[in-house]
Amino acid sequence: MKFFVDTAEIADIRELADTGLLDGVTTNPSLIAKSGRDFMEVTAEICKITHGPVSAEVVALDHEGMMREAEVLRRIADNVCIKVPLTIDGLKTCRKLTSDGTMVNVTLCFSANQALLAAKAGASFISPFIGRHDDNGFDGIDLIRDIRLIYDNYSFETEILAASIRHPVHVLECARIGADVATMPPAVIKSLFKHVLTEKGIEGFLADWAKTGQTI
Ligand code: E4P
Repeated sequence: MKFFVDTAEIADIRELADTGLLDGVTTNPSLIAKSGRDFMEVTAEICKITHGPVSAEVVALDHEGMMREAEVLRRIADNVCIKVPLTIDGLKTCRKLTSDGTMVNVTLCFSANQALLAAKAGASFISPFIGRHDDNGFDGIDLIRDIRLIYDNYSFETEILAASIRHPVHVLECARIGADVATMPPAVIKSLFKHVLTEKGIEGFLADWAKTGQTI
C-alpha cells in the first residue's frame, strides 16, 4: 500500500519524505488555506520534495474553467496530479486530461457508483472520504470494500486512494481490504510507528546493555 501525506506543511512533508516511506502528497483548498502559503509556490516546493504524485485541486466548477486551471497547475511539475471533484464537469475534465496523459485524482467520492463513474472516466486515483462518511452515519470502510470489489470485477486500473483517514484503525482496515493508497494527516502516519511494547522493549534492552559496560 502506498502512503501519501495529506498536508501542505513543508516541514511535515520533508520529515516524512526523509523516512523513505512517503509515496506522494495530497492537498486540497482547505489545507492550502491552513498553510497560509501561495498555492503555486507551495505546490512547486512539494513537487521537489517528493517524486511521487502531488495532488493539486482545481476550484472552478465548470469544465472549461477546470481545464484552464489544470493547464496552469500541470505546468508546475511533471508529478502534479490534477484533483477534480466528482461532478459531471469534473469527470468530463478527468476524461480529457487522462487521455492527454495527465494524472487525475477524482475527489469527494461518497458512493461506490461514483467510484464506478470515475473509473470509467479513466481516473488515475479515486478518493473516497472515509472519515467524513463515518461522520454522517455511513460506514467509510464498507465504501472502500465495495469499490475494491467493483474495480476488481472489471479490472479497472484506477487506484483506490483512501482519504479522510482519521486514525490507525482506518489504515489497518484499508490495508486488509487492499486499498492501493492511503492519504493520511502527518500525525496518523507517525502514530503507525508507535507501540507501547516497542518503547518498553527498547527501555529494557538499553537498561540491560548498560549493565554489561560494553560499547559497539
Ligand atoms: C483527500 O485528498 C482530502 O484532502 C482529505 O483526505 C480530506 O480529509 P478530511 O475529511 O480530514 O478533511
